[in-house]
Order: sequence, then C-alpha cells, then structure tokens
Amino acid sequence: MTASGTSGFGAEYARIVDLAKLGAMVTKTVTPRPRRGNLTPRTVETPSGMLNSIGLPNPGIEGLLAREGRAWESLGMPVIVSIAGGSASEFRDLAAALEGYRGVSAIEANFSCPNVEDGMEFATDPELLALATGAILEVSSLPLIVKLSPNVTDIRPLAVAAQQAGAHALTIMNTILGMKIDVHNRRPFIGATFAGLSGPAVRPVGVRLVYQAWPEVDIPIIGAGGIACADDALEYILAGASAVQVGTASFVRPTAALEVVEGIEDYLRNSEVGSIDRLVGLAHPEPA
Ligand code: SIN
Repeated sequence: MTASGTSGFGAEYARIVDLAKLGAMVTKTVTPRPRRGNLTPRTVETPSGMLNSIGLPNPGIEGLLAREGRAWESLGMPVIVSIAGGSASEFRDLAAALEGYRGVSAIEANFSCPNVEDGMEFATDPELLALATGAILEVSSLPLIVKLSPNVTDIRPLAVAAQQAGAHALTIMNTILGMKIDVHNRRPFIGATFAGLSGPAVRPVGVRLVYQAWPEVDIPIIGAGGIACADDALEYILAGASAVQVGTASFVRPTAALEVVEGIEDYLRNSEVGSIDRLVGLAHPEPA
C-alpha cells in the first residue's frame, strides 16, 4: 500500500504508477472541514529521513467527495480513505459521510497525527482510542484500520484497546515527533516548531513496535515506517505485519512501492517459503 499523505488522493498518483500492481492506496487524511495546513517551512531533510509538519491540508470531507468520490471507483485498486476528527463524534461523522461510496474499500482512522492540535490524543489514551473506534463502527460498514502512534511508552495497550473496540486491522506506525533548530537564526526551523520524523532512520522503531504488538492481537497489522525496498518490508512482515505501507521513499522514487512488490515477489520465487503468509511473525520464537 501507499502510506497516507504520500500519494495525494489517488488521481495524482495514478498518472505516475500502475496502481493495479499495488495492494491498495491510502489517501491523504481528510478532516470534517477544509484545512490550509501549517505555516512553512513544513519539511526538512534529516540524516536518512525527513521531518514534516504539513498540518493535514485537505478540501474537507464534502469537498473531497465532490472532487474524487466517484473517480475512486475507476482507479483500478482498493482505496482506503484516511480520516481525522477532533472528537469521537467528528470521526463518526466522517465515517458516515463515506458510506455508499463504492470506490472506498476501507477507512484508516488517523488517530496519530503529530502535527495538529491534539492530533495524537486518541492514539495515546486507550480509552479515547476505544471511544473513537466505537463511534466509527456505529455508522460504518467498511473495514476499519486504526493507525497507531510511536509516541507512546508502550504500544501494546493501545493495540489491544483498538482490537477490543472492534478495529479490523492496525497500521503501525505514524511518524516520530521531532524538531530541528536553525543554528543561524537560533529558532525552530519548522513553521509549527515540532514535526514528524519518517524515512529509513525510523524503520528500526517501527519494526520493534510491530514485533511488540503482534503477540498481543489477532487482527492484521500493517507495517509502516521507513520502508524503501523489499528487504525493509520483509523485516516488518517477519516481525508480524501482514501488509506494509510505503511512504517517504516515494518522494525520492515515486515507483518505490511497486519496487517493494516486485522485490517481495522475487524473494518468494527464490525461497522455499511459497506464500507470504508463512513469513508473518516468523522472527518470533516458536511457542514453547
Ligand atoms: C500532516 O499532514 O501533518 C501529516 C499527517 C500525519 O502524520 O498524520
């Protein structure tokens, strides 16, 4: 899959990549009302990664559905719509608005955006997470994927809370909160001060979180964070991910997600494993 925020709302990416070859695309997050996003600068490169504080700019759910809602049907791949609200009822309203759009295959609830006020509130408190998950499920007939944050001491209670509230899958992880200071003007570099770190530098954190969460839940985990090639994706799969998302690498090579698919196919052809399902969680010790 493409990771949210890295391939627009679908049509933009379809011009570059044969979407039919990917498992799914996750849209940029949509919110109840249009947002302009954060002050600039919004991005900066870091060693083996980048910081972003984009601030969820988007046309709002009504604007998005008017613009793309029917086009998703003809994209030729499952579209997963990423949503973010400021309260459980806003999450519910967003999910309700997506009902009846045949081109939408699933919802990814972005409970973990580090770049908007209270954006991580839901992914750092198991009770709030369960409340918002339940609110979406009250109105939605779509599979619900809950996107968790790495900015917690222990991801396991959050993963369990999402599952108990009825989530169908988890995405682990969103970006890690960081910052850069401009040493010449002696001020924070990013307009919004703090920003989310992504790219290869964060992969070991994401792999660790998937590894920790996997024994605690029965629902599938989608691994995300710093995946740039097939071996990176396989690390996540061996840790317990059933699928992966490619994000920041697409800014360097827009075809990165396709290369990951092809690389995994090569790996399977050259090994005795047969099916990728047999690799999921294989890095864990055998139960005694
Ligand atoms: C952003 O738009 O600030 C990025 C969103 C996210 O990391 O959830």
